[in-house]
Amino acid sequence: MSACQPPVSAPDRNRPIGLFDSGIGGLTVLRAIKARLPQEHLLYLGDTARLPYGTKSRETIVRYTLKAAQKLVDEGVKMLVVACNTATSAALPSLREHFAPLPVLGVVEPGAQAAVNATRNGRIAVIATEATIADGAYQRAISRLLPEASVLGRPCTLFVPLAEEGWLDGPVVEGTAHRYLDDIFQGADGAERPDTLVLGCTHFPLFASLLQRVVGPQVHIVDSAATTAQAVDEALRRQQLRRQAAGGERGACRFLTTDNCRRFVRTAGFFLGQPLQAGEVELVNI
Ligand code: DGL
Repeated sequence: MSACQPPVSAPDRNRPIGLFDSGIGGLTVLRAIKARLPQEHLLYLGDTARLPYGTKSRETIVRYTLKAAQKLVDEGVKMLVVACNTATSAALPSLREHFAPLPVLGVVEPGAQAAVNATRNGRIAVIATEATIADGAYQRAISRLLPEASVLGRPCTLFVPLAEEGWLDGPVVEGTAHRYLDDIFQGADGAERPDTLVLGCTHFPLFASLLQRVVGPQVHIVDSAATTAQAVDEALRRQQLRRQAAGGERGACRFLTTDNCRRFVRTAGFFLGQPLQAGEVELVNI
């Protein structure tokens, strides 16, 4: 923060961090932020009425994302975390322009950083939604950090409804994973094979152990949740927006959804690793 900016007031620091995803996948990011910054208040919006975003056109994704972000801004968030790779890929510049000077963070840069930290042979596979892969955001972000990297993108559309359904293991999911990934990890000879697999969709970390079995133990599986939490932490410090909680008091979490609270409550438990109570989720119309 430059010397001529006024100091940030305590009420500003006490406002929540807003997180947004098309559905409940972004809860994997919320969980990582909560673990790293337990004192922060968090406000999560899952746009379940419009899910999936990943098969929609860029124009539609930008339109939906701006609407969802507006809702969080109206609720008074101090920072916006786009906990959705599809929305980050399509709409990050529009969000930053539209809501300036609000800090807006996406998940693609942190995911690319995690991949570059993990790879040893510079061969990286990215699995994500159709829209994220078509946009090439990961390919560009990784190349900026490691120009000699070879990046292979593979859309894995079906993992999104499987995650929302809570099907995280078993023959259907395993067969789907083999169909999407075998030619990359089993077909290629050793020198060609990626040593790193990026989970470029916030729904996919739920399949991490199954995917590890499918691609083999030698492949590093990375997701952007922990690196995004780190980026949020750094941005809060830079902007003097960190909440100071007395006596280790933990921040509160609020959840908003655009459709079917009961389903949100049921499936959110898979992502959070603990059950939610019905009263913790509020239906909103955006
Ligand atoms: N969770 C979203 C992502 O990270 C994708 C889900 C969708 O297709 O809406 O890309």
